[in-house]
Amino acid sequence: MCGIIGYIGPKKVVPLIVEGLKKLEYRGYDSAGIAVVDGEKINRRRVKGKICNLEESLRNEPLSGYYGIGHTRWATHGRPSEENAHPHLDCTGTIVVVHNGIIENYLSLKEKLLKKGHTFRTDTDTEVIAHLIEEYFEDLLELAVQRAVQDLRGAYSIVAISTRDPNKIVAAKDGAPSVVGLGENEFFVSSDINPLLNHTKSIVFLEDKEIAVLDTGRVKFWDYKANALDKRVEQLAWNSLLIEKKGYKHFMLKEIFEQPQVIRDTLSGRVSLETGQVDLKETGLSEKVIKRVERILIIACGTSYHAGLIGKLMIESMAGVPVEVEYASEYRYKDHIMHERTLIVVLSQSGETADSLAAFKAVKSESLPSLAICNVVQSSIARETDGVLYTHAGPEIGVAATKTFTAQLCALALLSVHISTIKGIKSKEEIKNFILDLQKIPHNIEEILNDARVIEELSQRFVSYNHFLFLGRWVSFPVALEGALKLKEISYIHAEAYPGGEMKHGPIALIDEKMPTLVVVPKDRVYEKMLSNISEVKTRSGFVLAVASENDREISDRVDAVIRVPSVNPLLSPFLTTVPLQLFSYYIAVARGADVDQPRNLAKSVTVE
Ligand code: AGP
Repeated sequence: MCGIIGYIGPKKVVPLIVEGLKKLEYRGYDSAGIAVVDGEKINRRRVKGKICNLEESLRNEPLSGYYGIGHTRWATHGRPSEENAHPHLDCTGTIVVVHNGIIENYLSLKEKLLKKGHTFRTDTDTEVIAHLIEEYFEDLLELAVQRAVQDLRGAYSIVAISTRDPNKIVAAKDGAPSVVGLGENEFFVSSDINPLLNHTKSIVFLEDKEIAVLDTGRVKFWDYKANALDKRVEQLAWNSLLIEKKGYKHFMLKEIFEQPQVIRDTLSGRVSLETGQVDLKETGLSEKVIKRVERILIIACGTSYHAGLIGKLMIESMAGVPVEVEYASEYRYKDHIMHERTLIVVLSQSGETADSLAAFKAVKSESLPSLAICNVVQSSIARETDGVLYTHAGPEIGVAATKTFTAQLCALALLSVHISTIKGIKSKEEIKNFILDLQKIPHNIEEILNDARVIEELSQRFVSYNHFLFLGRWVSFPVALEGALKLKEISYIHAEAYPGGEMKHGPIALIDEKMPTLVVVPKDRVYEKMLSNISEVKTRSGFVLAVASENDREISDRVDAVIRVPSVNPLLSPFLTTVPLQLFSYYIAVARGADVDQPRNLAKSVTVE
């Protein structure tokens, strides 16, 4: 997720674009850049790091121009660097582009353009767009863009300018947001309305496969066939901070609701339904290396550790490879008995967790292949391992991990299929069905989110409790752990999670009317056993709240309240059963007046030991 902006009008363009980028920084902040036209040429400045680095560079060496575009990046293809920072130029340096999204077919397009003699300076997918526009350019920039976008596959929003057709900004989008601001003789285009609100409330939302042409006097709208469109102008009354949270009260709630798109983005470009194949070449782990793998070690902390426990069950079921999952903070001090054919996987959304990095370094060796699953491109852990599989969750601002957790599950599911395919464990049919199930998950989560109000109302009954028990078995035990962690870390309520079968070995002594139990009990291989655990709790006057399958007709008679989730492939049920627990914890924490996005004593990335 990146932030893009363009401006044409009478105001000083450089400070206006920089201010706009600062309002888009929550969308990504690993590098930034600006390009403005001063009548003759394109003046460009790019930096690695945050917008403040761009501001400093511009203070030291000012740029001049009277219209331009800007970008703040969350890298998905190409490490964060000045060279990979947007805006990107074509061969001639007369066309410049910024882009938000993922161009899935950029490698094939790049090959074609290279054969036509184009020279590339970066390994980003975005630069391909600049060269495509150059390839199609005749006289009008909008026509060149209209032709270029026909070749693009993926979700994107782009903005282009060119000195070959000056005093004009052209925007196009398909799958990523783009809004046009209509001011007094000035026009804006941006990833969202936040940068526009101080200048205009008259907004046009571009729809998919639409083009906007902003010049010094008017704005035209086209569809992708270059037919003129008559677009509705909206009058908005939002304040800026609300926009960053897109109207949600907290980043955590916004990020819970972003999960369907995050899973789509993490799957994007990596699964082919036609072939039923998963493509993880980007990890750099060759088939030969994967074929040799006989065991996997997953090292992680906190929520990532819980994702690792679910990844273990996915990989063992799909790929037949035994997986050990270790708390990094513990593992680093153990005696390491490494099997020579072990793949080491470090699971860390921030890629900066000190314990995870240290634990990996303690066992890192030339002979053992290693893979990081991270959400931050070129983070410390990502730079340390042989290969990286990035989750495309975008920046997670809320301290409590939500969308990065389900994005990690998605990456682990892809990895399980990748290994299974290479080792020939599951049939093509079984793998294709698994991928089909995986591709339905975003919609399944949307169905749960549509019932958020039901979960909010139910959660209010538990605001004053001070102890909770979470139970689950098999794939649902790590979900119980994750649910207990969410409740603890944002509402400060004591919560423990146990495997259902462990209750009789002690914890059941805890049960009374002051200790509600939340059971994660989808219809799967351990369902009947979980019903027994529920009975054990109920006979001791414990209140039981169940997260259960929508088609479960029995559970309502067994428990005091039910939150239902769609029935899915049992291996994938954690994607769904976790979401109600995220919402449950969120609404209780809000009701208790806790600082949901920045809970006490916590940091988003634990870079200390
Ligand atoms: C989870 O909500 C917490 N933010 C915390 O447990 C987190 O998962 C843990 O610190 C690991 O972080 P990482 O994924 O960035 O390594």
